[in-house]
Amino acid sequence: MKLFDHEQIKKMEDIVARYEVQASAIMPLLHFVQETKGHLEEEHLVFVADFLDIPHVRAFEVATYYTMYFTKPIGKYLIQVCRNLSCSINGAPEVIEAIRENLKVELGETTADGLFTIVEVECIGACDLAPAVMINEKLFGKVSTDSISGILDSYREKAQDA
Ligand code: FES
Repeated sequence: MKLFDHEQIKKMEDIVARYEVQASAIMPLLHFVQETKGHLEEEHLVFVADFLDIPHVRAFEVATYYTMYFTKPIGKYLIQVCRNLSCSINGAPEVIEAIRENLKVELGETTADGLFTIVEVECIGACDLAPAVMINEKLFGKVSTDSISGILDSYREKAQDA
């Protein structure tokens, strides 16, 4: 069975075409594959490396170095907590602790029910709303240790309704 269909290959070619040096397309290409497949399996990384005509190890290095790539399945809801300066001084460490306690997982882990994965990330461009948290595509600003449990509960309810 093919890893990617014709339409997906076309999208990958379009991504690569935006770069003068095709190897430079590795990060957006990994993003696309992760979006398409949910996470990056070994066969996906090999495919991307071959697609860009770069050594396989390069794709593995990039995928394992950056926190936004996942080589294992992640939860239905990906919680990304910013750890940069504005967020850190406005309570991000306490918010992370509250999330960890609520979900009973460590950073980088997924809850046993497969609902949530929590990671720390670099600035997500919402410094004026620090501390900022993204859950999938949705941004939450000025998150507090009090407000986070309500936010998590709303996702639990959402998952039940789905
Ligand atoms: S420092 Fe956290 S969003 Fe910019």
